[in-house]
Amino acid sequence: MPPSGRLAIFPGSFDPLTNGHVDIVLRSVHLFERVQVAVLVNPDKRPLFSADERVSIIREVFREYPNVEVDSFAGLLVDYARARRASAIIRGMRAISDFEFEFQMALMNRHLEPTLETVFMMPAEQYTYLSSRLIKEVFSLGGDVRGLVPSAVEKAMHEKKGVKA
Ligand code: PNS
Repeated sequence: MPPSGRLAIFPGSFDPLTNGHVDIVLRSVHLFERVQVAVLVNPDKRPLFSADERVSIIREVFREYPNVEVDSFAGLLVDYARARRASAIIRGMRAISDFEFEFQMALMNRHLEPTLETVFMMPAEQYTYLSSRLIKEVFSLGGDVRGLVPSAVEKAMHEKKGVKA
């Protein structure tokens, strides 16, 4: 039987997944029967982790949550959401600085697919300053990222650094 219930898609680069992202997923599962974390495959960027690596790390993080699915996508988000029959897109909103970009994306996505709603969620205050970009910078300069990313992410970052060294 195919999985049933309302599906929300949480799209992003997740390079890497932070505890802020985890916080948003855990809030979303209270609102939707299923939440799909969708990792963008963007060939123009040079990510720290490949899309496949990100998917497997995120699957590991949510392995105890049967209603959290993880996959990657390329192309337009609305096409992916349509193909998955999703009801909503979830985006985290940390601060006013996020607003402009998020507002533009939400309205463009609504223009492209009027039936798809974007739902904004605020992470817990302790994660409002977190971003994947800062995590990578701090880590690459020898800073401690414990408590800011899931342990599976921290482990994968150390392994990646070991490989690069
Ligand atoms: O974590 P990010 O990098 O802020 O996520 C941005 C993301 C993946 C949500 C956005 O770039 C996206 O949806 N890309 C897919 C291509 C697309 O649909 N572009 C039009 C968006 S209005």
